[in-house]
Amino acid sequence: MSDDAVPLVITVATRKGGSGKSTLVRLLAGELASRGSSVGLIDGDRQGTLSNWFEKVKANGRMPSDIDLVKVVSMEDVRSALARFAGKDAVLIDSPGELNMVAVSVAMSSDIVLLPVRSQQDDTDAGLETFQRLQETKSQTGSEAIIRFVFNDIQMLDTKSKGFERACRSLESAGGSWLTTLIASRQMFKEMNDGAGTLYTMPFVSEETIGKARGNVRVLVDEIGALLEGAQ
Ligand SMILES: Nc1ncnc2c1ncn2[C@@H]1O[C@H](COP(=O)(O)OP(=O)(O)O)[C@@H](O)[C@H]1O
Ligand SMILES: [Mg+2]
Repeated sequence: MSDDAVPLVITVATRKGGSGKSTLVRLLAGELASRGSSVGLIDGDRQGTLSNWFEKVKANGRMPSDIDLVKVVSMEDVRSALARFAGKDAVLIDSPGELNMVAVSVAMSSDIVLLPVRSQQDDTDAGLETFQRLQETKSQTGSEAIIRFVFNDIQMLDTKSKGFERACRSLESAGGSWLTTLIASRQMFKEMNDGAGTLYTMPFVSEETIGKARGNVRVLVDEIGALLEGAQ
């Protein structure tokens, strides 16, 4: 994705467990690798869902060779993991549910922080709490990290609902912005999460479903790329 010597660093965070952090990291990793980027994954969550997926997919022989993973015991170790991935094109950091000060500072030293949220109120509330903490640190430290919400697990009908409208208004009134690309609710994503592979290596039954799933992530990565380019 970049020709620079320094990797592009993307942190995925939000306080709420189950909002789709690890899912988003897996999707981005697979898409970036399919574009020829070398990718370093840092699993900062003690629960280790990303590491478990990585090991399982690797054991199946379906992990692209240009994706590596380091599991850190505490967020303090993220810096050394980042140093280890200095030669990669992109580094993706999966954060724990509880963001301590170190996690916040790691996030704010990234190029972009993505906050996945479902459109349900408790999800947007939790996302907003994380956003406000990050935003505070951003203004205190002068960090240039871009912060964006990403709506996840969306049924396309949801976008016409009052709930979705309310979620947008509440993010907006807190000064938050979100990516126009929504991550749809997809069975394929669940299957990928269960250790089947990346969207480019997992077995699939229907060309149409895998095509839609890949297309969704392709547009997402294009939007992130355009945002980062605009920030340079
Ligand atoms: N877009 C989606 N479509 C289908 N299932 C999803 C989607 N996003 C997340 N999930 C499912 O929701 C659960 C929680 O997601 P996960 O990424 O592990 O959240 P987190 O890392 O924030 O705790 C997982 O079982 C995952 O497969
Ligand atoms: Mg997770």
